[in-house]
Formats: sequence, C-alpha cells, structure tokens
Amino acid sequence: MATKTRDIGELVDGARLWRRLMAMAEIGATANGGVNRPTLSPADNESRRLMLDWAKPLGLEASIDEVANLYLGRPGSDPEAAPVLIGSHLDSQPTGGKFDGAYGVLAALEALEAIAEAGIETRRPIEVVAWTNEEGSRFQPGCMGSAVFAGALELAALRSVRDSAGVTVGAALEETLAGLAELPRRQGGFPVASYLEVHIEQGPRLEAAGNAIGAVTGIQGSRRFGVEVLGAEAHAGTEPMPQRRDALKAACQIVAALEQALADESDRVRFTVGRFEVFPGSPNTVPGRVFFTIDLRHPEQQTIDWLTAAIEPTALANARGCEVRVEVRASAAPVRFDAEVAALIRRRAEALGLGHMELLSLAGHDAGPLSRVCPAGLIFVPCEKGISHNEAENAEPDDLTAGARVLASCLVALANR
Ligand code: HGY
Ligand code: MN
Ligand code: MN
Repeated sequence: MATKTRDIGELVDGARLWRRLMAMAEIGATANGGVNRPTLSPADNESRRLMLDWAKPLGLEASIDEVANLYLGRPGSDPEAAPVLIGSHLDSQPTGGKFDGAYGVLAALEALEAIAEAGIETRRPIEVVAWTNEEGSRFQPGCMGSAVFAGALELAALRSVRDSAGVTVGAALEETLAGLAELPRRQGGFPVASYLEVHIEQGPRLEAAGNAIGAVTGIQGSRRFGVEVLGAEAHAGTEPMPQRRDALKAACQIVAALEQALADESDRVRFTVGRFEVFPGSPNTVPGRVFFTIDLRHPEQQTIDWLTAAIEPTALANARGCEVRVEVRASAAPVRFDAEVAALIRRRAEALGLGHMELLSLAGHDAGPLSRVCPAGLIFVPCEKGISHNEAENAEPDDLTAGARVLASCLVALANR
C-alpha cells in the first residue's frame, strides 16, 4: 500500500539505523571508542563488504567504478531517467568517530529500505553511494572519489600519489577493486538528476540553537599547502649554535609567525598544521629537513587568496638560514548549494515537525564536488559539542533518525521530479 509522501519519514526505522551504525563502528574500532578506517585499507574494504551484505536482501544492484566508489541501486519506473544519488563516505580519520561519513551512507540505506517497505515506487532510479577517500588523510586530496566522479580531478594524475608508507593510490585501488572483482564495473561520471547527503555538523551551531536539522547553504573554501624546510644535519654535541641551519627550529618559528600573520579576531579563518615530519629524527642529530602541511579555510575565496599571498613571504622571513619551499597541493572554491534543494530540506523538516535552520558547512563534504554536476544538497544533524575528527565524536539516536527521516522525505520528492 503506497504511503503518502508526508509519512515516508515516519517509516524510517531509527533502531535499525543505530544497530547498523554500531556494527559499522566495529570495523576499524579503536580502543578509545572511535574508528580508524583509512581509505582503501583492509578496514575500508571490510566496510564495503558489510554494505553489500546489508544491500543483498533488499535486492539492491551493487556496482563499483574505476575509483572504487560503491553504488547500491534501486530501479525507478522510468529506467531512462537519470538517478538520484544519496550517500557519503565510509573512510575515516586515524582517530575518527563512529558517525563522520558512515552516518550518511547508512542513513541513505535506511531511507531506501523505508521507501521499499512502504511500497513506494519512484520515477527515477535511486543509488546509495559510498565515495572513496573523502577524508584525504592517507592520500591527499580528500573528496577524491567524488571529485573524480564530478570531473574535478583526473584519476590518472592521482594514481602516483603515495601514502606515508610509500604505497600509491594506483596500487591501493587495484587491491580494493580486485577484492570486489565480482561486482559489475561501471564508468563513473554518469548523469545524475540530483544528490543529497546527510552528515553530522561537526560543529556546535545546531546543538547551540536547539535545532534538529540544518539545511546547508554551501561549503567554505579551502586551500592545502606542503611546506619543506631544508637546513643541514649536524652533530648535536659539536656544531656551534650560531652555525646551525636547524630545520626544526626554523619550521617552528615559521609556524608561529604564520599563526600571527593569519590571525583573525572575527574567528572565520581556519589555519591548521596537521602533519609535521622531522628528518632524520635522531635525538643527537640537528634536523636537516622538516615537512609540514597547512590546511587554510575561509568562506570567501578572495580572503583565501589574500592570505595565501602572505604565506611564502612569512615563511622566508623566518627561515633562519634554511631553504623554504611552499607548494599549493589542493584548492576547493567555496560551494553554493542549489537553493531549491535547501528549501526542500526545510519544507520536509517542517512537515516532520523538526526545528531547522540554514547554515554554511565549515567542513568539506562529497556534496561539494557533486554540486558541480547536479543540484546537490546537504542535511546536517547535531553532534555532541560539535566534536569530530576525534574518537569522542557522539550523536543522539533521535537526531540521527530525524536526519534520516528528512533524507527519505526529500528523496521521494526528488526521485519523482
Ligand atoms: O576535512 C574536512 O573538511 C572533511 O571532514 N574531511
Ligand atoms: Mn565526513
Ligand atoms: Mn571527516
């Protein structure tokens, strides 16, 4: 019996969603209650397998593309119609939480299952997708799978990117694809009618406002840099201090100077040094080389460009006799989501009696690249104190269910357009 669109959200089974979230969280589980599921790792591959196990009884059609994006499809009444895609990512940060990414993939599966159980036919096919390497932790840049799909990155240029153990994207992809060789292979980048993702906010605003749903208007811009500081190895006991070209002390002075140069009392600039490697790393050798990353973000491209111009001069002015090389490694312009999709999210939240507000995403998401090729939207739900990229990441089952309800409700509307 078909159920009115209004009720579809009510048919989402929050308990089933929570059970699956906890089962997924066992893959790559860390001792402190988080997850460590690097992209294209055995843990990431195991999480794909678990998705396939859950998809099978639902009769979803599984397929995989050249960058190992995983699709679980449900046909529509019009097989020629471009599909609606819903999903997120299964890879995590090294000290990640149970909900970042996995919630969006499992809420998408839950929405599809609720629609099937309600006997609702949609005109368009619907595909749940788990994008490869959203996090950009093991291999940079992030949003790799969705950006290749959207044509924002070329896979050929990414194959030689190496992780800290020297493994290439190409080799890791080959291993993952070989492990899923039974799945039909498809070329990514196919036409998509629209894309919708649900994700924890990873910030404190929804919780502070007491709202259950965020209709995300866009994503702030970002630029990632690699900085190399080259000095000279020397004996820790014999080399006179004034003669040293100590790459570590220069790098520390550069980071402190950048902190000053990029300081922003309106607290909109985000400046992070997340990786800092010292060579040779021996206690009694003066470091000859330091490599560190910069993650710079702001809602306005002009400000990102302006701050970028300050980075190299600041680094050179604090080099302490070392050579400094600053390289831009990735840039993502600010994203504006389709206003109609954002309005649909608010209308459906309203219809489901949920408090809602608009907000800008300060974190990157796969919906960013997808917005280049179709009307895309992002639904946020609160997480505890906004904590994320941290094993203590937590979210309330009711909030997670609410987000899945809005996703299912929007999905039926989009799949019948
Ligand atoms: O870094 C990001 O914004 C995303 O959470 N990976
Ligand atoms: Mn995420
Ligand atoms: Mn993340």
